[in-house]
Amino acid sequence: MAVRKLAPSILNADFSNLREAIAHLNGVADVIHLDVMDGDFVPNITLGPVVVEAIRSVTDLPLDIHVMISPPATFAKDFIKAGADWVSFHIEAVPEPRELLEQLREKGVLAGVAINPATPASVLFECVEIMDFVLVMSVVPGFGGQEMIVDALGKIAELKEAATARGLELEVEGDGGVNIKNMRMVIDAGADVIVAGAPITGGP
Ligand code: DX5
Ligand code: ZN
Repeated sequence: MAVRKLAPSILNADFSNLREAIAHLNGVADVIHLDVMDGDFVPNITLGPVVVEAIRSVTDLPLDIHVMISPPATFAKDFIKAGADWVSFHIEAVPEPRELLEQLREKGVLAGVAINPATPASVLFECVEIMDFVLVMSVVPGFGGQEMIVDALGKIAELKEAATARGLELEVEGDGGVNIKNMRMVIDAGADVIVAGAPITGGP
């Protein structure tokens, strides 16, 4: 069985004590998922490059920046300067993602594309060969602690198959509404990386 990675999101953490929230993830997380929201692409505002830089200074874990910004290109590069290891942006914000994926890869990060629940997986088939990973959203992005949209999980297998048919291995990250009860469904759907916010950082 493939080794799966756990990527806790700090979206529901205590932002008055991020140092402690991050410290709690040592030994638990394989990668830390940071949700960046612009108040335009999604109806919420979260954190910017200075916060990523601050988090970078208190952990050696890889930082996975989920960029919910439209357009994302300029800020994606700022997040790399701030210490990102993985960067994903949304296909709904960049319908032609090839150039930005190439630019991100050139800067030495893992480059990914995120896809909303309402967007069909097929829009990504043509560019799977230039992605390091894909982020399949199983909630409408904007907030942590939402209920999973189970139908979205079918896209995980669809994207894996599209990659396999092209002789590629594509890492798929499942994000949104994952909890201890439904996590098995995300694993069975084929996700390699599991994001979980509220169940890990949302409480004591
Ligand atoms: C939603 C974010 C998710 C979210 C996950 O816009 O992209 O990463 O924080 O949190 P939970 O696991 O609480 O849905
Ligand atoms: Zn996310």
